Amino acid sequence: MLDADLLVRGASEVVTCGGPAPRGGAAQADCGAIPDGAVAARDGRIVFAGPASGLERAVRLLPGAEVVDARGGCVLPGLVDAHTHLPFAGWREADFERRLAGAAYADIARSGGGIITTVRATRAASRDELAELMRGRLERMLLHGTTTAEAKSGYGLTFEDEMKQLEAIASASGGPVELVPTLLGAHVLPPEHRESRGEYVGLVAERMVPEAARRGLAEFCDVFVEEGAFTADEARVILRAAEKAGMGRRLHAEQFSSCGGALLAAEVGAASADHLEHVDAQAAARMAAAGVVAILLPGASLFAGRGKAASARVLREAGTAIAVASDFNPGTCPCESVAAMIPLACLLCSLAPDEAIVAVTINAAASLRRAGRIGSLEPGKQADMAVFDVPDRRHLAYRFGTNHCAHVIKSGKVVVRDGRVV
Ligand code: NIG
Ligand code: FE
Repeated sequence: MLDADLLVRGASEVVTCGGPAPRGGAAQADCGAIPDGAVAARDGRIVFAGPASGLERAVRLLPGAEVVDARGGCVLPGLVDAHTHLPFAGWREADFERRLAGAAYADIARSGGGIITTVRATRAASRDELAELMRGRLERMLLHGTTTAEAKSGYGLTFEDEMKQLEAIASASGGPVELVPTLLGAHVLPPEHRESRGEYVGLVAERMVPEAARRGLAEFCDVFVEEGAFTADEARVILRAAEKAGMGRRLHAEQFSSCGGALLAAEVGAASADHLEHVDAQAAARMAAAGVVAILLPGASLFAGRGKAASARVLREAGTAIAVASDFNPGTCPCESVAAMIPLACLLCSLAPDEAIVAVTINAAASLRRAGRIGSLEPGKQADMAVFDVPDRRHLAYRFGTNHCAHVIKSGKVVVRDGRVV
């Protein structure tokens, strides 16, 4: 008999997402759903995830145990948002209006708008102001079922301002949404370095990376490889420095054009290559062989790329593991909800609903090197769960635009009940 201090019961299905991680190829469609399931935990760890009929034989509830009634909803692992740009100041509704009137994302950037607008606002904000802005965003994420989120710098673009963004992430950490910090010093070239690209790449590789690693401010280093951002050769210098400093690597790759980012991700053993609207079969195969997770960002595909999305078919056939994230940022996806990306991943990237569920849980956790602890409902794992008020998991893909999240449990504690933060 296992003792438990938390029980989630009354579920139409418990979607465990259990099994080997990350999941690629045909295997990624198996989300391990258990009809009439229940989950029990003790001291923040799962002790039982299985059919409710087996509960009485396996689990003894401790006095005072918390019981959550899923009322016929679906229980999923707490969602993992593996790509966000959380610490920024200022929105960009004017850019949005210009794009609706026909301007391309790259045109706006070339005329001095876009990312640089956010850089100006973020440089002007203090660390504490950024942290405060993040807290509101994290609460909205939590209310949509997210219990872990990656967070990138990349709107500072000076040594001090990049460190300030990472410090803001550290200061907003410790709440119910676990944060995974990433240094994105090489997001775009800051205007003051227009005539000195090499110097800026050197600043990122030789000063920002070692300092962020030394102070434990960033677990990963990311580079935006794109026309108008950085070349694959420049990114290689930065990512090699990150490897030397003990940081994991990620890449913004093949978003608007094919610039070699996905191949570089495979070459440097990156944890993920993200966006991938323009990825081809050869790069997908290299990524699969190198264990690089493909993170699709359908919100940004819709919002910035006018619907040109990454093809799940190319990745699936190559056997690449697929994750899906929000890319939350003021320019290309101002939406905090990774749950909201499930319908978009199905409609734009042709993921099956079960693949999309795997993509925002266990595969996303694998891309953050956390699949041993979070991302699935299996005994021994951290008890992070989201209960959605839907009778069948396919409704998460089908009924778009509504927040279906009713309850959220983080490390065995109820943090959202009936749609409200506890
Ligand atoms: O992931 N592609 C580059 N970076 C972000 C957009 C940032 C912005 O527009 O502010 C992205 O889409
Ligand atoms: Fe991004």
